[in-house]
Amino acid sequence: MALVSAKEMLEKAHAGHYAVGQFNINNLEWTKAILLAAQETNSPVILGVSEGAGKYMTGYKTVADMVKAMIDYLGITVPVALHLDHGSYDGAKKAIEAGFSSVMFDGSHYPFEENVEKSTEIINLAHSLGISVECEVGAIGGEEDGVVGGGEVADPAECAKIADLGVDFLAAGIGNIHGKYPANWAGLNFEVLGKIQEVTNGKPLVLHGGSGIPADQIAKAISLGVSKINVNTECQLVFAEATRKYIEAGKDLEGKGFDPRKLLAPGTEAIKQLVIAKIKEFGSNDKA
Ligand code: 13P
Repeated sequence: MALVSAKEMLEKAHAGHYAVGQFNINNLEWTKAILLAAQETNSPVILGVSEGAGKYMTGYKTVADMVKAMIDYLGITVPVALHLDHGSYDGAKKAIEAGFSSVMFDGSHYPFEENVEKSTEIINLAHSLGISVECEVGAIGGEEDGVVGGGEVADPAECAKIADLGVDFLAAGIGNIHGKYPANWAGLNFEVLGKIQEVTNGKPLVLHGGSGIPADQIAKAISLGVSKINVNTECQLVFAEATRKYIEAGKDLEGKGFDPRKLLAPGTEAIKQLVIAKIKEFGSNDKA
């Protein structure tokens, strides 16, 4: 199946009261693990690519071509969107050109009027090509590719204005944080989430920083209009843990255990199992 825009899968998720996972990819193993997990659970899936990961994988075109060829080779039939995560103004245009089926333009660090202006331009460009767009209002805490935010919450009035531009789904800070949550984290702000959903007239909402949020808060967020949940750090943690176990057990020193196809296998399998568990938690299994 060819790459699809994320618009339809997220509107279906919103109407059906479940969420589709965006799992960030870093290399071939990550991509393969996530695609296989989605296929096995018969779930739509969004592959997220940060600008840093795009550079690491030698450019958006390399990523888009790899993902398309892998879908074909593995016989993946569930809907897959390839989405730029936290794209800059130039980055979003480049990802569109390279064949991504969805982009996030993150103008949350601009003065609001400039965010509106640039978001409008990216939305118009992407929509003319059938590509979906996510925009962001208000800083989200933690760290993403070296960008640090203050754990802020978005202003619902600003969310309403960005939603009115025709954006397909909207990221808004509700106390969520990228990376590991601190022990003293206050939890998601459901009051603000409820207000944002009310003023954006049922627009699918995006929850960034999906790693480490307790299941009851995930369920409540979905019930209040969150239709896309981004997970990155948890995949990195399970990959690192499984790889460390393999090396600490001395398996790389046994036979041809140093072969990267063996060395990276436990980490890849760990990502696959985590993604299967997340898909079930978010309720997108059997919704392909
Ligand atoms: P985590 O790394 O906290 O899972 O956040 C991922 C994310 O929001 C990507 O945009």
